[in-house]
Amino acid sequence: MNTAKILVISGSTRTQSYNTQLAALMVKLAAQKGAEVTHLNLVDYPLPLYNGDLEAEEGLPKAALQLHAHFQANHGVFIASPEYNASFTPLLKNTLDWVSRHRPDGKSVFSTGVYAIGAVSPGALGGMRGLIQLRSVLEVGLGALVLPEMVSVGGAASAFDVHGNLASASVGARAQALVDRLYKEAQYQALA
Ligand SMILES: Cc1cc2nc3c(=O)[nH]c(=O)nc-3n(C[C@H](O)[C@H](O)[C@H](O)COP(=O)(O)O)c2cc1C
Repeated sequence: MNTAKILVISGSTRTQSYNTQLAALMVKLAAQKGAEVTHLNLVDYPLPLYNGDLEAEEGLPKAALQLHAHFQANHGVFIASPEYNASFTPLLKNTLDWVSRHRPDGKSVFSTGVYAIGAVSPGALGGMRGLIQLRSVLEVGLGALVLPEMVSVGGAASAFDVHGNLASASVGARAQALVDRLYKEAQYQALA
């Protein structure tokens, strides 16, 4: 049977990032389901701020092409997305913008595969406002299929236990349900 491949990335490169902790948890849960999981840290894919002149002069940076290959190779993608001023991070937007510029077959690489999104923030809203913005960009701008379920985790400082699991049983159950659905949909893609 073809194994579902799932890519997990965090929209933060901060060393103690709460969203990278969420990404790590989703990696663990997806692997437990039986997925083949790739966990990328965007610190390993440095990209200049997008500039059309730069692209015209130098083409796409190597990191953008490498990331494109990762998006293309996976059936499902989970993005853990910090909230900055009610939106998502400039790091994540810049990454999506650069990757979207590579269309060797004329198609958006984001239009294949299935996407799930989640956030951790110190505030009570758990980064939900940023997730709405990210959903809009993924769906409307990039043609991605984004699962309706999302996981948003408030109270970041006490959100995880010492094992990296979510401290709240109800929030943990939402994360598990999201992984279950992402795995199921990715499995369909793997068999297609
Ligand atoms: C520029 C900036 C804007 C922020 N705006 C929000 C916000 O609108 N809502 C929120 O809950 N947290 C906001 N925060 C706090 C971040 O959610 C917090 O720093 C979080 O830890 C970042 O995610 P990370 O831990 O994954 O790096 C903001 C932080 C920064 C640096």
